[in-house]
Amino acid sequence: MADSNSLFYLFLLFSFSIFTSGVEAGAKDAPYVGINIGTDVSDLLSPEDLVTFLQSQKISHIRLYDSNADILKALSHTKIRVMISVPNNQLIAIGSSNTTAATWVQRNVVAFYPQTLITSISVGDEVFTTNPSSAPILLPAIESLYNSLVASNLHNDIKISTPHAASIILDTFPPSQAFFNQTLTPFLLPLLQFLSRTKAPLMMNFYPYYVFMQNKGVVPLDNSLFRPLTPSKEMVDPNTLLHYSNVLDAMIDAAYFSMKNLNVSDVVVLVTESGWPSIGDSKEPYATIDNADTYNSNLIRHVFDRSGTPLHPELTSSVYIYELFNEDLRANPVSEAHWGLFYGNSTPVYLLHVSGTGTFLGNDTTNQTYCVVMDDVDSKTLQAALDWACGPGRANCSEIQPGENCYQPNNVKNHASYAFDSYYQKQDRASGSCDFNGVAMITTTDPSQGSCIFPGSKRFGTNKTSEVGTATNTPMTSGEVGHLRRRRKKPTVQWYNPVILLVLLARIWL
Ligand SMILES: *[C@@H]1O[C@H](CO)[C@@H](O)[C@H](O)[C@H]1NC(C)=O
Ligand SMILES: *[C@@H]1O[C@H](CO)[C@@H](O)[C@H](O)[C@H]1NC(C)=O
Ligand SMILES: *[C@@H]1O[C@H](CO)[C@@H](O)[C@H](O)[C@H]1NC(C)=O
Ligand SMILES: *[C@@H]1O[C@H](CO)[C@@H](O)[C@H](O)[C@H]1NC(C)=O
Ligand SMILES: *[C@@H]1O[C@H](CO)[C@@H](O)[C@H](O)[C@H]1NC(C)=O
Ligand SMILES: *[C@@H]1O[C@H](CO)[C@@H](O)[C@H](O)[C@H]1NC(C)=O
Ligand SMILES: *[C@@H]1O[C@H](CO)[C@@H](O)[C@H](O)[C@H]1NC(C)=O
Repeated sequence: MADSNSLFYLFLLFSFSIFTSGVEAGAKDAPYVGINIGTDVSDLLSPEDLVTFLQSQKISHIRLYDSNADILKALSHTKIRVMISVPNNQLIAIGSSNTTAATWVQRNVVAFYPQTLITSISVGDEVFTTNPSSAPILLPAIESLYNSLVASNLHNDIKISTPHAASIILDTFPPSQAFFNQTLTPFLLPLLQFLSRTKAPLMMNFYPYYVFMQNKGVVPLDNSLFRPLTPSKEMVDPNTLLHYSNVLDAMIDAAYFSMKNLNVSDVVVLVTESGWPSIGDSKEPYATIDNADTYNSNLIRHVFDRSGTPLHPELTSSVYIYELFNEDLRANPVSEAHWGLFYGNSTPVYLLHVSGTGTFLGNDTTNQTYCVVMDDVDSKTLQAALDWACGPGRANCSEIQPGENCYQPNNVKNHASYAFDSYYQKQDRASGSCDFNGVAMITTTDPSQGSCIFPGSKRFGTNKTSEVGTATNTPMTSGEVGHLRRRRKKPTVQWYNPVILLVLLARIWL
């Protein structure tokens, strides 16, 4: 055993040492949080109101899924930086004719720049996975657009790349063993070389939500939501011994290792989509307001922390949140229409908790958190914690006594949540005061229900219904949606392949 271990670590050292030349490009630019703007919204703001809204929310970077002329015009003379997109259905036309590409750049870029700060172009979306027949035309389209930018001398200001689904990376965890699906190498390698040559980023759509959903039991919810972890819950890459406390960082590092496998080491990763849905059907029980708020708030903080990834602490990827608005016109599953931070009329779906990140997103006003019971805790442990809170912890447990407002539903989980929250608020929400041997968690959603008002709630007995509100779904008209094919639908993220460890060991032995 000792023998194989030392061989194993020898291999680790080796795999470490081949990863020498760091990724430098872009490291000096401050990372930012941008937001995707999908427009399948029944009551979309006018372009002018949209821009006013973006400014009021201090949103500095946006991505459009097309190059809507009215929005680009409304953005002129603002400081908002915009990534425009070439929809998949225009790839063939652009990729097979330099004239078409030149016309596209004239119409959609030159006509607006520099009054409108177009900073990048995403060409197609997840082409390798959703539109594989267009794969051969993708790089020609990108190069043709690039050549047109060069002709207008805009190629240094405007970067061109193409967003990929996470599923082009196989065996994401441990990141050091991740690699791109080799079937794609004939297209991917020249693409990466183009990105390297033009100092453009590798655009990736990374959804820890789907990783969690497809790997339940392997990937804990806390890691997916960037919740603070005890070291024992961190995922360790056995090759590099790097500790991963969240899924997104592991995905980003998997992309760096995958590029390294193709000898590309100077292209940075830009996360063009990431988010968490706030409502789903019974198959998506983790699509909740609370989880969405937690994910997006923590994601924003993580980017502004500038702590990079375990592999590249010096390099923090910028991220575009998916997405600004709930797109009520999008087809099933239910979650498809509930990725937004705001409803189409600009009312927030939930209030993000991102204090400490400057003025980004003006609606971070409540600054309130509550302490409640985690899911899936056994009731014996819970009862012990409840007894402690109401006893030595001196929580105010009067409301959970029989006949009082928070007695119903009469179960240990409900009572413990109340007691934990009372303790937590009495401690002024001090860090560490919501733990209870690991059975409690902090939430931004007010747990009050009906006449049961939790400590810390701003409701004070007013009969306000839950902030969520029931989304009034406009029925979908099938003809209207889908011509702009975008994103994920059943992305399968191959997370972990235990066999590969054995294969690697075998290779060393032989
Ligand atoms: C487009 O222009 C490039 C560079 O000038 C050239 O190599 C390529 O053959 C042209 N493509 C087409 C389809 O004409
Ligand atoms: C790799 O890509 C090919 C071509 O798109 C696809 O058919 C295949 O299923 C992918 N392999 C895996 C393991 O996802
Ligand atoms: C990467 O570099 C190694 C060592 O120089 C070489 O053996 C390998 O073929 C290269 N791989 C690619 C995809 O270029
Ligand atoms: C959100 O912020 C905007 C601009 O600061 C403000 O007009 C709006 O009332 C806020 N909404 C909520 C719910 O706080
Ligand atoms: C938010 O709450 C924390 C802890 O309760 C407090 O230290 C901080 O000053 C508050 N921030 C704002 C903006 O109210
Ligand atoms: C305990 O909570 C109840 C209900 O909110 C309140 O009326 C009572 O004054 C509290 N008791 C103490 C000691 O704070
Ligand atoms: C509280 O809300 C419920 C449901 O909306 C309503 O039936 C009830 O009359 C309200 N009670 C008070 C005191 O406002």
